[in-house]
Amino acid sequence: MKTKFLILFCATSIITSCTTPTDSKEEHFVEDLLRKMTLAEKIGQMNQLNFDQPLDSVKAQIRRGEISSMLNIDPTIINEIQKTAVEESRLGIPLIIGRDIIHGYKTVFPIPLGQAASFNPEIVETGAHIAATEAREQGITWTFAPMLDISRDARWGRIAESLGEDPYLAGELGSAMVRGFQGDNLSDNNAIAACVKHFVGYGAAEGGRDYNSTNIPERLLRNVYLIPFQKSIEAGAATLMTSFNDNDGIPASGNDFLLRKVLRDEWNFDGFVVSDWCSMSEMIAHGYAADRKDVARISANAGVDMEMVSQTYIDYIEGLVAENKVSMQVIDDAVRNILRIKYRLGLFDNPYIDTTKATTIYSDKHLQAARRAAVESAILLKNNGILPLKPEQTIAIIGPMAHAPHDQLGTWSFDGEKNRTVTPLRALQTDEYKHIKYRYEAGLDYSRDSDIKNFSKVKATVKQSDVALVFVGEEAILSGEAHSLSNINLIGAQSELLKAVKSTGKPVVMVVIAGRPLTIERDLPYADAVLYNFHPGTMGGLAIMDLLYGKENPSGKLPVTFVREVGQIPMYYNHNNTGRPAQDWITLIKDIPLEAPQTSLGNTSFYLDSGKDPLFVFGYGLSYSTFEYSDFRLSSHEAGINDTITATATIKNTSNTDGTEIVQLYVRDLVGSIARPIKELKGFQRISIKAGESKTVTFKLPVSELAFYGKDLLKKVEAGEFDIWIAPNSKEGIKESFVITE
Ligand code: NOJ
Repeated sequence: MKTKFLILFCATSIITSCTTPTDSKEEHFVEDLLRKMTLAEKIGQMNQLNFDQPLDSVKAQIRRGEISSMLNIDPTIINEIQKTAVEESRLGIPLIIGRDIIHGYKTVFPIPLGQAASFNPEIVETGAHIAATEAREQGITWTFAPMLDISRDARWGRIAESLGEDPYLAGELGSAMVRGFQGDNLSDNNAIAACVKHFVGYGAAEGGRDYNSTNIPERLLRNVYLIPFQKSIEAGAATLMTSFNDNDGIPASGNDFLLRKVLRDEWNFDGFVVSDWCSMSEMIAHGYAADRKDVARISANAGVDMEMVSQTYIDYIEGLVAENKVSMQVIDDAVRNILRIKYRLGLFDNPYIDTTKATTIYSDKHLQAARRAAVESAILLKNNGILPLKPEQTIAIIGPMAHAPHDQLGTWSFDGEKNRTVTPLRALQTDEYKHIKYRYEAGLDYSRDSDIKNFSKVKATVKQSDVALVFVGEEAILSGEAHSLSNINLIGAQSELLKAVKSTGKPVVMVVIAGRPLTIERDLPYADAVLYNFHPGTMGGLAIMDLLYGKENPSGKLPVTFVREVGQIPMYYNHNNTGRPAQDWITLIKDIPLEAPQTSLGNTSFYLDSGKDPLFVFGYGLSYSTFEYSDFRLSSHEAGINDTITATATIKNTSNTDGTEIVQLYVRDLVGSIARPIKELKGFQRISIKAGESKTVTFKLPVSELAFYGKDLLKKVEAGEFDIWIAPNSKEGIKESFVITE
């Protein structure tokens, strides 16, 4: 057994400054304003209203200084309502206007899970920047994104909004999204404040059922769930939203440990915290607060600066201050945090929209960026050689998702317009693809449709064609908030549709357009190729055609594990090994003899019916090119905690098609003060390689990146042996080893 030295890693040295450097002008402004405010006006700054009341009543509240922020307001009245705040309230404090702009404003990009499949921070940053540009010109100054919940459960509808199962990937892409929304300066006319959410653990809802409790111990919180939040706050995220769930019994909007100790003391966050929609008042249903007054007391003291919708602050804080149950210090700090962000947004200088300015909405640049994002977000899961298609082939367009302009936009596209969606069917009517000969027979009207009455027409159509493209998946409403499922097979009669098409003997390309990783193992035998698209947005149809016809080469890789059966959930690549890891020779249910005596059947950890492996592993994805990995070199096989290890390998494109490979870096810490994951992603790069050529890929891995919260809950690098892989996915790759010394 090797000796393990514990090396205390100075936590502060890896936390780069989390805050905008203190700008004394900003602080003076905030302090001056704070001094002028009455307690009632301060409480007003802590109140966010949903726009669901008559305009006159809203304006009256604004005049009285009772509202700080609004959400879901019609952009056409934003100037009017800001004018009320600025010109008719005593202190003229502008409103911050929030909206859920999750993956595009009007120009809709792929859902976040799709964007994560690009493993491309530039794609994510550009998408967020475009969303911010389109939104700010409408007067929206704050979005509730990125969602950084790590999700290991495809039943959970909000997996669609997530950046996948891996904390490193979510951290890199979440930071990119923050940069994209916020730009260099929040006051720019193409920047809006980001809101990292949901703090924290929400994606681990028991059973994948939305809003359910979570039970994540502090060590796991710190080693997995908090990572993308910390990174995105380091990237400058202006605001943070608490989650709905109770973790280990404590609802997030009442969790002072997370909101004060972790967020403020450890991470130095100086933006503001908003509750989720009524997540404060829901603490009564949780059984954590006795009544609405109790809610206000708990959340204010826990560190929620602004209350979304439930209005307990407005109703009770004054009384709570009088009773010394909430201190003025707590109130002043909350208001400071809010005013600071309003100041940074430039709202005190100019809260209005310039309605004379030409719009950038749906500009060609925006549409082309959305198309690029959809191209890079698609994952080729199977190809027996039928793809790419040849332009001279006659194709049959089948399936409910071939022309589903609303559903292709995915969850949370409040502002996307279906008449602007280029579906695969519409793509075939554009100049670029109108030369393709096709016949269209949907077969099913929508994904839940189980009426097979048109299947004979489908078969006749397919028989007259060279290839069938079957577009299956999920309507947008089947994923997203409050839309969890306990069965994640293709819904309706879509599996039967695939079988019917395959029975014609024609080659079948299955194109999935869905909000989550579905269990498609049973469908694979009926498809010669599978292209998977998480709802790809406005330009999805063109992107899909670009990929099917080889104008673009698929490059996306899975940001989540695809399970074979729903019962395998949770299954994720960075799990611990267990004491009985499954071997290759597992016994399956079919191998068990009748009346077999009681036995531990191989004594390892697997399912008798679905085995030990998922259908597709994290990081998996095919291309029209093939890549060979070789010549793995490390700068050193031994390093100290202040060193950086350089890992290089040669990646050869062994095909005659130019392509892009997402090369991944994984490590495994072999022995720790706690059991460590069997692999952890530590880097990735997109490398474009011409046919037949080779490129050297170089990863720099600072040893500090190996730090984790061990037995004593301190962040340290633990000396010892590590394995390291440069790999095309989380299962394969070429391997080396190194030792970290004290
Ligand atoms: C509830 C959702 O959980 C949250 O993500 C969203 O931003 C708010 N509602 C506002 O719509």
